[in-house]
Amino acid sequence: MPNATVLVVDDEPLIRWSLVNRLKEDGYRTVEAGTASEAVSHHRDGVDLVLLDYHLPDANGLQVLKQIKDTDPDTLVIVLTANTEVGVAVEAMKSGAFHYANKPFDLDEIMLLVEKALETTQLRREVRVLRARQAQPYGPGSIVGQSEPIKAVRALLEKIGVSPASTVLLTGESGSGKDLAAKVIHYSSARASKPFMNITCSALPETLLESELFGHERGAYTGADRLKHGLIESADGGTVFLDEIGEMVPLLQAKLLRFLEEKSFKRVGGSQDIKVDVRVIASTNRSLQEEVKKGHFREDLFYRLNVLSVVLPPLRERRGDVPMLINHYVDIFNTEFRKKIRGVSPTAMAALQAYPWRGNVRELRNAVERAMLLAEGNELTELHFPMLTVSDTDLSTGMGLPPEGINLEALERSLVVQALERSGWNQTKAATLLGLNRDQIRYRIEKFELHKPTA
Ligand SMILES: Nc1ncnc2c1ncn2[C@@H]1O[C@H](COP(=O)(O)OP(=O)(O)OP(=O)(O)O)[C@@H](O)[C@H]1O
Ligand SMILES: [Mg+2]
Repeated sequence: MPNATVLVVDDEPLIRWSLVNRLKEDGYRTVEAGTASEAVSHHRDGVDLVLLDYHLPDANGLQVLKQIKDTDPDTLVIVLTANTEVGVAVEAMKSGAFHYANKPFDLDEIMLLVEKALETTQLRREVRVLRARQAQPYGPGSIVGQSEPIKAVRALLEKIGVSPASTVLLTGESGSGKDLAAKVIHYSSARASKPFMNITCSALPETLLESELFGHERGAYTGADRLKHGLIESADGGTVFLDEIGEMVPLLQAKLLRFLEEKSFKRVGGSQDIKVDVRVIASTNRSLQEEVKKGHFREDLFYRLNVLSVVLPPLRERRGDVPMLINHYVDIFNTEFRKKIRGVSPTAMAALQAYPWRGNVRELRNAVERAMLLAEGNELTELHFPMLTVSDTDLSTGMGLPPEGINLEALERSLVVQALERSGWNQTKAATLLGLNRDQIRYRIEKFELHKPTA
């Protein structure tokens, strides 16, 4: 870490001198303190790392350590102790020291510790900046709309965010904002600085999904050559978002239910109970009640998840929000594409408001994106929204079933290939052409073993 500042605290000038000298040689900035009170006051001026002697004239090192940690828990401290004082080293580590070093010390060893500590500080800071940047777009205000149903959803999500509720179920049609809602809950909660982990239950085969979620012990099965921490464990303190929960197989449903009830689980092949504190948000675009009736989904898990449920309304049930959403995306794509489009003509806006939006906000966003890419002037009109002129009936009659029948798999494969070719293998764009989401097209690319042709 170039230019890092290290605070050296020791009451013996000679020891301070040798540490400071070496630190400067290695390119660090240094600050010195001979007493505990000096140390605490220098720390407040901002330092990256503290080398802290245990024996100080006005207090002991552990007291200083505590004060430093109270001011800034991210400051790393290396405690220097006489090698006869094993108890001190242990106490220091328990109180949050990064490491300890025995006196008399070897300067090379200290420098290695310093380097390692500063790497850790750097990483912690990076994570904090990235998390904050990630959280920004997911405030409650990121849910656009002023209709009554969406206002109710926004209020409910905020309430859930700050509540201690440990499970939440999000339902709603594809593209209605379940992913967005999950992030709003997470980032408006006290868990915001902890991980948000996301997995799509339909994207992985059963055994893989199990070990992704719960992890596995070394040797749990062939190929498991090392211990793996699962998503749930890695998300400790944060949120796990289980997308498309309706696709989870019954065996895993049972394991998930046990986890939700006991707040602990075992890794695959493990016997130890692992306790974690995570909020589980599950989402589905199917009716779980229907799946329960058909015997595909466990009733007990359904009830456990359904305690707190949020239904994202389809866009056609809140048509009043269409103009606001369209203008929202016009602003976004104006910035992204460096265009200066003022908006949508009144007749086009009326048609867009009447349009059924089966793909909900995702479809709307994609429609605006495409329109803005094509538009030459400074206003969008019906001409820029082809779906306003091609009706669904044209589509269904155009694809009538021939008398001899068809091979549905082959047709599906061919349509996926055409969409990928037309979009230059941009999966998001190809998915839009087919009315799918990214996971759904990825699933098909894998199923049909499609590969982007090398140029
Ligand atoms: N109310 C809203 N305001 C602004 N943007 C929204 C809103 N609802 C959804 N979006 C945006 O629409 C797109 C689709 O939403 P999202 O991915 O959350 O849908 P989903 O319900 O998870 O869909 P699927 O079931 O297909 O996974 C995203 O770009 C999201 O940011
Ligand atoms: Mg989703």
